[in-house]
Amino acid sequence: MSHDKQFFTTFAAVLIGLGVLAVILYFIAGYLTSDMSEYEPKEVALENIKPVGQVYIAGQPGAPETTAAAPVAAAGDVAAAGPKTGEQVYQSNCIACHGTGAAGSPKMGDAAAWAPRIAKGMDALLKSATNGLNAMPPKGLCMACSEDELKGAIQYMVSKSQ
Ligand code: HEC
Repeated sequence: MSHDKQFFTTFAAVLIGLGVLAVILYFIAGYLTSDMSEYEPKEVALENIKPVGQVYIAGQPGAPETTAAAPVAAAGDVAAAGPKTGEQVYQSNCIACHGTGAAGSPKMGDAAAWAPRIAKGMDALLKSATNGLNAMPPKGLCMACSEDELKGAIQYMVSKSQ
């Protein structure tokens, strides 16, 4: 008889022990995961994979309402960063057309297309780039570009197109 009683006592103690352990684990788990409760995994993922930049077209949904202020800020940034190199100006403004030959522009790297233009001389090229020429918009749409920056971009394209 005393054997059964001892077994029962031990068994009950083990059960209680396990119960207490379960409660402790429950709280530990809750503590460890409490930080993650604020996580919205989808939001976080979307934030992580969102594109670096976005193109807004004025008047279309999503376009910032402060479009007028944006170029001012951009111009300020440029001024703060100092003059851009010819390559930088090319990459940000001229590549749109001159990278592909779009709109009948002389494509960078196309020596045949550039030869007659190079023959006009730098001053003439700078003048037509500044004022525009047919489908070539004034300053290649780089309104914040100084004369030197435009010149640098032309020199960059010319140097790659000979
Ligand atoms: C919207 C398209 C477009 C962009 C952007 C553009 N160009 Fe052009 N560019 C043209 C076209 C088209 C021509 C050819 C014009 C023609 O001869 O009829 C041209 C021609 C030129 C020429 C030759 C001019 C001449 O006298 O023969 C130069 C130099 C030039 N672009 C420089 C630039 C520079 C520098 C930039 C960037 C700051 C730039 N372009 C951005 C379309 C573009």
